[in-house]
Amino acid sequence: MLAVAMHRNPRTNTPLATVLEELQSAAALPFDQAHPIPPSVNHSLEFLDYEREAVFQQEWICVGREDEIPASGDFLTHQIAEVPVLIVRQPDAEIKAFVNACAHRFACLVPDDKGSGKRFTCRYHAWTYDISGQLVRAPYMEMKDGFDVTRHRLRPLRLATWEGFIYVTLAENPSTQLDESLAPLREQVVGRYDMACYQTVLRESMEWNANWKNLIENFTESYHVPIAHGKTFAQHNKPPQDYVCGEDSAHYCYHRAPQAAETGLGAAHPQNDRLEDEWRRMMIDFCVFPNHLVTLMPDYLWYISVQPLGVDKMYATWSLAVPPEVLADVSEADFDDWLAQFKHYMEVANGEDKALVEALHRGSAAPLLPAGVYHPIERNLWQFMRYLAGMCKS
Ligand code: FES
Ligand SMILES: [Fe+2]
Repeated sequence: MLAVAMHRNPRTNTPLATVLEELQSAAALPFDQAHPIPPSVNHSLEFLDYEREAVFQQEWICVGREDEIPASGDFLTHQIAEVPVLIVRQPDAEIKAFVNACAHRFACLVPDDKGSGKRFTCRYHAWTYDISGQLVRAPYMEMKDGFDVTRHRLRPLRLATWEGFIYVTLAENPSTQLDESLAPLREQVVGRYDMACYQTVLRESMEWNANWKNLIENFTESYHVPIAHGKTFAQHNKPPQDYVCGEDSAHYCYHRAPQAAETGLGAAHPQNDRLEDEWRRMMIDFCVFPNHLVTLMPDYLWYISVQPLGVDKMYATWSLAVPPEVLADVSEADFDDWLAQFKHYMEVANGEDKALVEALHRGSAAPLLPAGVYHPIERNLWQFMRYLAGMCKS
């Protein structure tokens, strides 16, 4: 990730106390009287520091998918609130997470996004760890009296999996358990898709000039889809009247709508025996708070894990995964072309959103604005604001 110069605006220096007060009063209004999230929440430097601790250091953050690291020694790296993390598949199939920093003088240990190995050797002084994070070799440390390699290891982090996704938390005692907090979402809505069987085919990243919450705002409403996504998602033909927003939850939000077509992209493959009736052409957009965004379709899923790089810069990883019956239709010879086309489709969709997400950030920098208003199918934005207010109580 790159360090970037921040552009100051009239809201950059809004004091934390003011932001918290604005956020609490905005979140206290019922949905039919609510206004969009106070702009200072997406611009204040003090709030950026605050949310790093109050949100990103407390919550479960999606770092990837289980099928990306199928074999012992397969690993992924990620960042959570600028803390480098390393996720490794163990010989007994368990997945472990560590702070990706050497136990000697804390150099970032594994530089690659992804890979496989039996050992991790630090590039600095060659301290070497096994895949359980245990130090196994430390050159010349026999020169230090009493040094014992077995007493040094990588710092472990808590990890959980849910529906094929891997989440890591920096919290020593997380206040929520994912299985429990997401149970209604699984049982009533997404469980029938069996997302764990989807196979990841692509992992990409992007940096946009906006606050990370601007992307959450954009992704969790489909009001803009018919207008903004003419080259991509609008072709699924889902009129705004058909959208249903899910129940209020402190842990997630979602909305869903069936597309018109029963075949083609967005519809279940004929061999999909998991989905019935209208669910065979149902799209679900959901967010596992704070920052895991998923578009779930009967024939693919697209997810994003977004984080702040500054008040005006966000970094996101995004991936595509498809269920086995869809992948089985793609021959080995056609795979690269099929994937390139799919990737292109998502890049066009991302491009359609990027301009709008950056516009949200630029426009909301103005010191004087109207009160703003929500469309009924923007209820997920109000739900996210209430979640955020709940995490930012002091
Ligand atoms: S910092 Fe890693 S071996 Fe010295
Ligand atoms: Fe969009």
